[in-house]
Amino acid sequence: MAKFEILHRCSTTRARVSRLTMAHGETVLPTFMPVATQAAIKGLTAQQVEQLGVTLLLNNTYHLNLRPGVDILNKAGGAHRFQGWDGNMLTDSGGFQFVSLSKFAQITEEGALFASPFTGEPTMLTPEESISIQHAIGADIIMQLDDVVPSLTPDRARVQEASERSVRWLDRCIAFHEASGRQSTQNLFAIVQGGLDFELRARCLEQMVERKDKVAGFAVGGLSGGEEKDVFWRVVKQCAEGLPEDKPRYCMGVGFAEDLLVCVALGIDMADCVFPTRTARFGVALTRDGPVNLRLAKHATDLSPIDRECPCPTCSIGTSRALLHHTATRETTAAHAVTMHNIVFQAQVMGGARDAIAQGTFPQYLKDFFARYFVGTG
Ligand code: GUN
Ligand code: ZN
Repeated sequence: MAKFEILHRCSTTRARVSRLTMAHGETVLPTFMPVATQAAIKGLTAQQVEQLGVTLLLNNTYHLNLRPGVDILNKAGGAHRFQGWDGNMLTDSGGFQFVSLSKFAQITEEGALFASPFTGEPTMLTPEESISIQHAIGADIIMQLDDVVPSLTPDRARVQEASERSVRWLDRCIAFHEASGRQSTQNLFAIVQGGLDFELRARCLEQMVERKDKVAGFAVGGLSGGEEKDVFWRVVKQCAEGLPEDKPRYCMGVGFAEDLLVCVALGIDMADCVFPTRTARFGVALTRDGPVNLRLAKHATDLSPIDRECPCPTCSIGTSRALLHHTATRETTAAHAVTMHNIVFQAQVMGGARDAIAQGTFPQYLKDFFARYFVGTG
């Protein structure tokens, strides 16, 4: 199993700095994981991603199973070699795609039945199958298959069924993973479900924590589906407090800088989201003064970089906002340039948090961040 060491703790909040050592190196937490759904962060080569300082990125089981498929991944010797990525990798199990593709999926106790988007052929994704695909991918962190319902589902019985089923599916994932003998190189994480219901969350938490010796970490799932921030934070707090101290805690689908910092303060160590890379492709650069929409006319004549102090490849060579504005709708280069900037921005926000936790100044770091972040006008 991965080695997890806590290096520093904040004395005022539940934030901590830790080191997670896996087969493809060390990742210092808290960290934000960029999403490479199709075995690539859109617009960037693996070498560029590595040069940005990323040590852990996310791939998607559902997508990689459709294309290129397990046969090619096996022939390539896994997804690391296939995409030329030598750092750590986490794969999501496919559970979340039930939400986004729910019109095409039918969920039973056995698994989820999908119609292939290419052939229309019915394909069953079971917990065992999901783990088996994640074994072929060879990710350093693999996620259990969970039964995910949208966070605003009004049907409490369905939320209850999904969270209880996620515990049963966790047991099937654990059994399949243990039988494979891959625990030394691939680390299985459980995913706590239970919607926005504190009682259901508490039950799911309790049962999953009982299995703590069989998993390498825990995720908080079923959030970021349009619920009120207030409820979102309470669920994250409840889960982070209920999860063991000595395992990493991963909040799924969180990518706004302000949410990341609150999650870190509540005791979260990892998060992922397509937001920073997706918004980059729409011409939005993330900055300490809030998001900047480079497509707005006011940037057409602005020869300053996105952020003078940003160490990213785009800002450090002085690429102007005017050039990014000009190319944003004409060339793909603006998408690459802003994607690199946004990945570095996320890394700076989390790196700054780690430094502040280590130095005992995390509360001040939060104050300084929030004093600036909502003042800018983009
Ligand atoms: N991504 C965002 N939320 C979730 C979740 O609840 N489960 C899974 N598997 N992936 C997610
Ligand atoms: Zn930059």
